[in-house]
Amino acid sequence: MISQQTIQQILSRIDITEIVGGFVKLKKRGTNYLGLCPFHNEKTPSFTVSPVKEIYKCFGCGRSGNAISFLMEHEKYSYVEALRWLANKYNVEIEETETSPEVKAQQQVADSLYIINAYAQKYFSEILFNNEEGQDIGLSYLKQRGFREDTIKKFQLGYCLEDRNAFSQAALNAQYNLDYLQKSGLVVVRDERPLDNYRGRIIFPVHNQTGKIIGFGARIIKSNDRAPKYINTPENEIYVKSKILYGSYFARQAIDKNDECLLVEGYTDVISLHQSGIENVVASGGTSLTTDQLRLIKKYTDNLTIIYDGDSAGIKAALRGLDMALEESLNVKLVLIPGNEDPDSYVNKVGANAFREFIANNKKDFILFQLEVSLQNAGNDSNKKASVVNQVAETIAKINKAEDFTKQQDYIRKCSELLQIEEQGLHALVNKFIRERISKQENKVSENETAITDETFIPSPADENDQSFNLLFKDELHERAMVRSLLEFGLKSWDEQNSVADYIFSESIDYDMIDNKKLLEIMDRYKTWYSEGIEPTAKNFLYDEDQQMSSLVVSIMDFPYELSLNWKEHFEGKINTREDLYKEEVASTLNYLKLRKIKRLIDLNQKDLEKQHSQEEQIMLMQTHQHLKKMEKELLHNLGTVIVK
Ligand code: UTP
Ligand code: MN
Repeated sequence: MISQQTIQQILSRIDITEIVGGFVKLKKRGTNYLGLCPFHNEKTPSFTVSPVKEIYKCFGCGRSGNAISFLMEHEKYSYVEALRWLANKYNVEIEETETSPEVKAQQQVADSLYIINAYAQKYFSEILFNNEEGQDIGLSYLKQRGFREDTIKKFQLGYCLEDRNAFSQAALNAQYNLDYLQKSGLVVVRDERPLDNYRGRIIFPVHNQTGKIIGFGARIIKSNDRAPKYINTPENEIYVKSKILYGSYFARQAIDKNDECLLVEGYTDVISLHQSGIENVVASGGTSLTTDQLRLIKKYTDNLTIIYDGDSAGIKAALRGLDMALEESLNVKLVLIPGNEDPDSYVNKVGANAFREFIANNKKDFILFQLEVSLQNAGNDSNKKASVVNQVAETIAKINKAEDFTKQQDYIRKCSELLQIEEQGLHALVNKFIRERISKQENKVSENETAITDETFIPSPADENDQSFNLLFKDELHERAMVRSLLEFGLKSWDEQNSVADYIFSESIDYDMIDNKKLLEIMDRYKTWYSEGIEPTAKNFLYDEDQQMSSLVVSIMDFPYELSLNWKEHFEGKINTREDLYKEEVASTLNYLKLRKIKRLIDLNQKDLEKQHSQEEQIMLMQTHQHLKKMEKELLHNLGTVIVK
């Protein structure tokens, strides 16, 4: 673990324009810098960097973040890797906090494995290109399959001699440890003697996100029924199969640019497509996709296109568990390669342009594809058909993030057409599945969540125009406005004794009512720090390791109402800026939140009134109603005079 002190030192030196400027050409525009967005293709620059706020934002694709998240997005570094990169750049010496002996031991094994793998890759490549057997058997095989030399070098392919232990001897002579060589899967011990595990095979190194080699796939050359086609590295400290997507290191920037990730089955599919210029491609190794792999893809894009050969067993494997992809909000499309081809042979046959065209024209939506297949299987059997309807409703119900709402509506419409059933009926069924899941989740939620939040949190997608749905977004705007007021104006004075922060915390805002729990976390942390004498600003949150927190703060602080320099000079003193009006802003924001609480209480009270009550209770509820209405009226009145927007 990097010590907090080191982190502070690194953060204090960060100059976002310098860091982003290292990857993107930036021009000064007013107080900000402008350039072509590195995350999407554009001709006119909409990528803005604010040195003052220490954030960037692209007004084209909407990506935003700070210097660290830029490195994480652009270079695909982890948080810690980004910190190390910065420490190196700014010559900050990294001070590590004490790590537990177990963690240390594990790190040491991992480091040794990386070193051995790097050594092995060089050794096998050297053999492929410079050894007679390597050239005659390995290189000629690869060339005959159509791989160019630059491609072979880029993917660092190699060849392992047929000899019993040529590699083992070389590695042991170079002082590599036999235990680690075994752990790496490169060497096995037979009859107490080391034996090369990948004898007579082509070596495909597998890289992690930062380009380090974590393991190998070794393909047999001469077909042999008794030996497996591929031998893969066994699971160890650095090779964790469920987290690997072959090719992701070489594909990351292309995936970003194309905003699409192509998924194929095999090593050779990735390499062939890459060679033909289609670089946004990774392979799953023919097993079903795991949540970790899906999240890795989600880091680069929302659009996943699976390309498999039609009769591949792998396709079933890939489709299994794809419901998870929907939960991760990925848009999944499917393309089947015709005939007996796989992506590798197909792109070699038709060329890159025709391949691209084929993909574009034959992409099928995953949900609709699945539905078509199940409908075919069901035939005229009405029982089977009913279960297909249920299945599809359950799948659609998994698309449940607020931002995916239209997508869900779209599916309901298209699927009800395919199923030849009433759209309303499918709607109701989907809602049933959503309700079921929510009530399951709610049972897990701790007791102290108030009824109010539970009831209003999840919009019912059944009624798009329903107020509660619209309210969700408006409500969150007000919550965000409060946190923004706190972060931006918190340290300014409210009156003679109190700061804005004091005022906000003293006002009776019901925190249970804040729907976005991340916002609440910001409030809580602010409060704690503030009470400890720290003067928090947005920056305290901007560089948080929790990326959700950091990007929330970025989006809250989003370049608001920036005045151009000219404008400011021209009107200096004549117009009011947000700065001048901060007290009004704070007051109206808090009033909105109070109003919202009262509205919710009125609703609750109203619901209660509709139930059966004794006369006394009835009267009390009526009085409560009147009281709440009066408060609402007062607040509305205040807002009317305070609103300055
Ligand atoms: P394929 O049989 O399609 O291999 O398996 P491929 O990569 O296309 O190789 P070529 O084109 O026939 O030479 C797809 C993937 O499944 C995994 C490998 O990751 C392979 O790339 N696999 C396959 C294994 O792990 N072990 C095997 O024995 C076979
Ligand atoms: Mn193949």
